[in-house]
Amino acid sequence: MSGVQLKGIVKTYGAVEVVHGIDLDVAEKEFVVLVGPSGCGKSTTLRMIAGLEEISGGELTIDGRIMNRTAPKDRDVAMVFQNYALYPHLNVADNIAFGLKIRKESKEHIASAVKEVSGILGLTDYLERRPADLSGGQRQRVAMGRAIVRRPKVFLFDEPLSNLDAKLRTQMRAEIKRLHKRLGVTSIYVTHDQVEAMTLADKIVVMHDGRIEQIGTPMELFLNPANAFVAGFLGAPPMNQIKATIAAGDTGPVAMFGDQTLALAPLADLQNAVGREVIVGVRPEYAAIVTENQPGAVRCGLELVETLGSEALLHMTLGDAPFVIRTETLGNLDRLNAVNGFTVAPELIKIFDGKTGLALSGQTRAA
Ligand SMILES: Nc1ncnc2c1ncn2[C@@H]1O[C@H](COP(=O)(O)OP(=O)(O)OP(=O)(O)O)[C@@H](O)[C@H]1O
Ligand SMILES: [Mg+2]
Repeated sequence: MSGVQLKGIVKTYGAVEVVHGIDLDVAEKEFVVLVGPSGCGKSTTLRMIAGLEEISGGELTIDGRIMNRTAPKDRDVAMVFQNYALYPHLNVADNIAFGLKIRKESKEHIASAVKEVSGILGLTDYLERRPADLSGGQRQRVAMGRAIVRRPKVFLFDEPLSNLDAKLRTQMRAEIKRLHKRLGVTSIYVTHDQVEAMTLADKIVVMHDGRIEQIGTPMELFLNPANAFVAGFLGAPPMNQIKATIAAGDTGPVAMFGDQTLALAPLADLQNAVGREVIVGVRPEYAAIVTENQPGAVRCGLELVETLGSEALLHMTLGDAPFVIRTETLGNLDRLNAVNGFTVAPELIKIFDGKTGLALSGQTRAA
């Protein structure tokens, strides 16, 4: 079982604690992505797993063995970094073979391993080249080759694609996914790009200020964020969040903000929350555009229309807060500039407590 377990993992630098006791189970063959804003402790956590940072507290197990004090080279993990860290004076073949040479593997084994790995990564034609003569994507592939060739129990990736341009990033993302399908190696991948997290992960771990906010499959986190932070982090553009108060409407609970109201689903948890300050969460793609004074619609001002081809982003203002609507252009193009509000199905609205940010229980799944 090549899983990885973190139990109450803590990191302190001097008197400052930056990772506050993280619990995480990564199953064998699972692809787990750590996401969160800059400085939340993603790299620190990954580097503690790799053995590049000392663990200040808690317990790390890999493959059932406690690894807190094990040297990095004996943990059987391989790490791929953002800046490739290739040896500039060695050619591609020697860069890939480096770890095997250190381990004094036989010449025959090294030759066949390099051949296999370069084949998998499409590097066969570049084996004689030095890193300086490769593109960014090719360099990143060499860095991955160096990790794969050792057949480690666990792959650790720290923002491996963030130095690549957008197109190459998309392409390499798909390659990493294919590679994981093929090799099935347990992987922990750090990124602050939520699209990478959504597309690559079996399981996403959302971190914030050295703590875990929520763990779940990409769709679980997208559909049922545990709190307003997770809701605002996943999804592009992120979920709109409106400050409001719950009130009793004629036919059920409503959210009130300014002089407007929005009908909510008739759930007991919301009916019992009358008077409570909340955050109303509406995903940009769940808001349906309105161009007239339609009853039940929320009125807002239109600031800017961004047309992206099949879709458009409408940047609206609701009171003094921004509100983004994502809509199809097909059939709507001639009325986008006249949009003055939106409607949203009550069951697609998320409600979070105004103070704690926690999702109010009992909300339906927006499937
Ligand atoms: N050597 C160090 N000494 C003191 N503080 C550190 C050290 N290394 C990291 N930190 C702090 O620990 C916190 C977590 O840093 P970390 O590098 O893990 O963040 P991250 O989530 O990887 O961010 P990014 O997305 O910017 O890479 C930050 O507040 C950072 O300033
Ligand atoms: Mg980092």
